[in-house]
Amino acid sequence: MSKQTIAIMGAMPEEVAPILEAIGEYETVEFAKNRYYKANYKGVDVVIAYSKIGKVFSTLTATTMIEHFGATKLLFSGVAGAISPELKVGDIVVATKLSQHDLDITAFGHPFGYVPEGAVYVEADKELIECSKRVASSMGKEVKEGIIATGDQFVADETRKNWIGKEFDAVALEMEGGSVAVVCDSLNIPFFILRSISDAADMDASFSFDEFLESSAIISAEFIIKMLDEIIG
Ligand code: ADE
Repeated sequence: MSKQTIAIMGAMPEEVAPILEAIGEYETVEFAKNRYYKANYKGVDVVIAYSKIGKVFSTLTATTMIEHFGATKLLFSGVAGAISPELKVGDIVVATKLSQHDLDITAFGHPFGYVPEGAVYVEADKELIECSKRVASSMGKEVKEGIIATGDQFVADETRKNWIGKEFDAVALEMEGGSVAVVCDSLNIPFFILRSISDAADMDASFSFDEFLESSAIISAEFIIKMLDEIIG
C-alpha cells in the first residue's frame, strides 16, 4: 500500500487544540496564511489544522491538506448547532451526507443547495462511518448519524433552523462540513465529519456556543483520536 497521510481539521483553535495535545510532538509549517501541524503519530503521517470559520476558509484548508500536504483521508472534528430536538449539548453527530443550506439559485427553478454539475448532498465515506460505529461501541457511546447542513451563517433563529431541518432533512448545522465534503469528493479523498453539539441554533445559541464550545470540542476531538487509533490499527 502506498503511504497514507491522515488530515485532521477543525475550524477554530478550540477544535484543534485537544488534537494537538493528544498528538504531542509536531512541526509547524506556514502555508497560504495559515499554520499546518505535521506529525508522525504511531508510525503514520498526520497533518492537522484549523481553517478559520466558514465555507471559503475550510475549502482552502481541505484543498491544501490534500494537494500540498498529500492527505489521503480527511477527518473533521468540531461543534455544531442541533436541529433535531433529540440532540443535546455534548452529544455526538456523524454526518452521513452534507449539504449547503445557503446555496440558492432557486430563481432558476433549481432546488435549494443545488447548482448545475453539483449535487444537493455529498456522502461521507461509508468505511469511516463504519469505523466510527466500532469506536462508539468500544467507548459505550451513543452516536447519532444524520444529514448535516452547512452555510456561512451562525444560525440563532428557530424559524431558520426549522426551515433548514425540513428542506434538507438535516439533524444538525454548522459552517464548514459541506464545503469540505465537496473538496474531498472532487479530489476522491475519503472523508468523515464529526460534530459535538454546542447549542440548539435558537435565540440562546450564541450564549450556549460560548459556554460549551470548549467542552464539546474536546468531546469531538477525543472521539476523533480514537478513530485515528482504529484507522491506524
Ligand atoms: N456551529 C455551532 N453552532 C452553530 C450554529 N448555531 N450555527 C452555525 N454553526 C454552528
